[in-house]
Amino acid sequence: MCVKMFIFAEIKIEACMKKLVALTGAGMSAESGFSTFRDAGGLWEKYPVQQVASHDGWEADPVLVNNFYNGLRKQLINAKPNRGHELLAELEKDFDVTVVTQNVDNLHERAGSSHVIHLHGELMKVCSSRDTDNPHFIEELMADNCEVKPGQKADDGSLLRPYIVFFQEAVPMISVAADEVRNADIFVIIGTSLNVYPAAGLIHYVRTGVPIYLIDPKEVGVGSSHIHFIQKKASEGMEELTGLLTAK
Ligand code: OAD
Repeated sequence: MCVKMFIFAEIKIEACMKKLVALTGAGMSAESGFSTFRDAGGLWEKYPVQQVASHDGWEADPVLVNNFYNGLRKQLINAKPNRGHELLAELEKDFDVTVVTQNVDNLHERAGSSHVIHLHGELMKVCSSRDTDNPHFIEELMADNCEVKPGQKADDGSLLRPYIVFFQEAVPMISVAADEVRNADIFVIIGTSLNVYPAAGLIHYVRTGVPIYLIDPKEVGVGSSHIHFIQKKASEGMEELTGLLTAK
């Protein structure tokens, strides 16, 4: 009898949890030591985006592209999740949280977030260049062996490439992410300039009346007036958001 009541209580608590969806971008990982892309001194100032993050760039010089992501992987291995990542993971105690990230790092997972959708791929994975989304040819690299060597092949005989969605390529996870946003009771945007589509368009799937919070130290142009702006860095902004959400 007691056990049944306990199970019933657990199901009830789960059913009552509000669904929180967070869309994150490069600013989320800035305090972990990663450069953003479009800020002054950002990554695209040092490495032309066309060369290292476009499909044409990959076709033109796969060695250069693999070397670029080999370098980022080494940086990621030495990086740690920051307080912003941790606080977002901790929200799982009170909310049914889904993280939709444009980031290719694994810092949300390492901070404890259990449901992360990567829109732009994953840095620690590599895939076939002929059949990028075929799970048979996607491999996870280990910290002590995280480089792709020139000419290294995937199991289908094509060149091994980073499991990254390059510009000019489709974003296979966008419809899964849109479904999550459509069902959100709370939508949070953290550290993205909202310049890159289709990710930036996800805000249009938020249902009318659903609160939207936006954390960013700079003003971000969003075509909606119903947004609660928290003009702070990710860690401080997440402290403020946690206070606002858990006080209710
Ligand atoms: P951007 O570099 O365009 O924007 C980063 C945002 O983070 C800006 O709005 C900054 O103000 C903000 N920011 C900076 N420091 C911050 C901090 N400490 N805390 C919170 N926010 C901070 O990066 P994204 O919007 O993520 O795609 O860029 C989207 C995509 O463009 C990336 O996923 C990448 C890039 O090209 C691919 O490579 C496919």
